[in-house]
Amino acid sequence: MRVTTTGTSRTVLVANQKGGVGKSSIVSAVAGMVAAAGRRVLVVDADQQANVSASDLGVEGDGGRGLSMSLQFAQSLTPVRDVRPNLDVIAGGPALAVVASVAATAAQTGIDLRRNLTQTLNDLNDAENYDLVLLDSGPGDAPLLEALLGTARYLVVPTKDDDASLSGVELLAMRYLRARKAGSMIQLLGVVLFDTNPRATARNREVFEQVHELLEGSGADPFETFIRSDRAAAVDLRTRHLTPLELVDVAESDQKNRLQRLRQKGKSSDRLWSRDPSGLASDYQGLTREILSRVATAERDEVAGGVA
Ligand SMILES: Nc1ncnc2c1ncn2[C@@H]1O[C@H](COP(=O)(O)OP(=O)(O)OP(=O)(O)O)[C@@H](O)[C@H]1O
Ligand SMILES: [Mg+2]
Repeated sequence: MRVTTTGTSRTVLVANQKGGVGKSSIVSAVAGMVAAAGRRVLVVDADQQANVSASDLGVEGDGGRGLSMSLQFAQSLTPVRDVRPNLDVIAGGPALAVVASVAATAAQTGIDLRRNLTQTLNDLNDAENYDLVLLDSGPGDAPLLEALLGTARYLVVPTKDDDASLSGVELLAMRYLRARKAGSMIQLLGVVLFDTNPRATARNREVFEQVHELLEGSGADPFETFIRSDRAAAVDLRTRHLTPLELVDVAESDQKNRLQRLRQKGKSSDRLWSRDPSGLASDYQGLTREILSRVATAERDEVAGGVA
């Protein structure tokens, strides 16, 4: 991939107001894949729960204070550096709770969350030249989501295949259109199905078509890659603070050492839940490829549009 990032141009927001649809897992996995391939990545955890920074990536951050100060007062962002090679993180956490009340009094205070976030992210990106910036968002938290939709250049929407999650996609699509009307440059890259049964091909096709219809007129298609259900791997990823690629390595050496540990009556707490997380990792690899390829296409279209 060429390094052509200017400002927040390669900033991908992963969002769906519905909770538990894979937003943080996807951010961690994609960030891990891109960083492992040697490109510089910044993860911004814009969620009070701090799942992606604290749990998935195991970062001991500032509880979201830095991000909160940047949103309120345009204070410069300082990432936690090199949490993995090529991977920096702006931590989330409870300090972000203040954002809702700041947004509610914006008319009196003149505080513009979106402008502050765009400016501070641009400044950081100008200094650091990240190849990719991934923004994770929490469930609900409409004011913060609004600021993120106003700042990011691209949007990825994960969903499960149940009706409630698919309604979440519709709700988000409405917010997305509103943000664009209000002048945001954000572009929907696609919807990704999360926690799917890889053997239920007919069902998956049906949901794929349903999402396709839902996106009619948006210019975006669902991603071809589905993220399979793998609860054992999901537990290992969070409790051990690993990216999927790292878990594959750990699981391989775990298998090798299994016999030895049995002989030594190894402690059960050392045990991994997942035997073979490589299927899940390869789903994330496919999704990462698709995201990067859609970003590249959008950038090409933009250049062509600018020249025409
Ligand atoms: N491949 C998977 N299969 C099944 N469950 C998974 C998988 N990956 C992650 N999970 C679990 O699904 C739950 C939701 O995932 P995640 O936290 O990524 O969603 P989210 O959309 O970020 O949630 P929130 O809205 O709370 O931020 C978590 O408990 C996670 O461990
Ligand atoms: Mg999350």
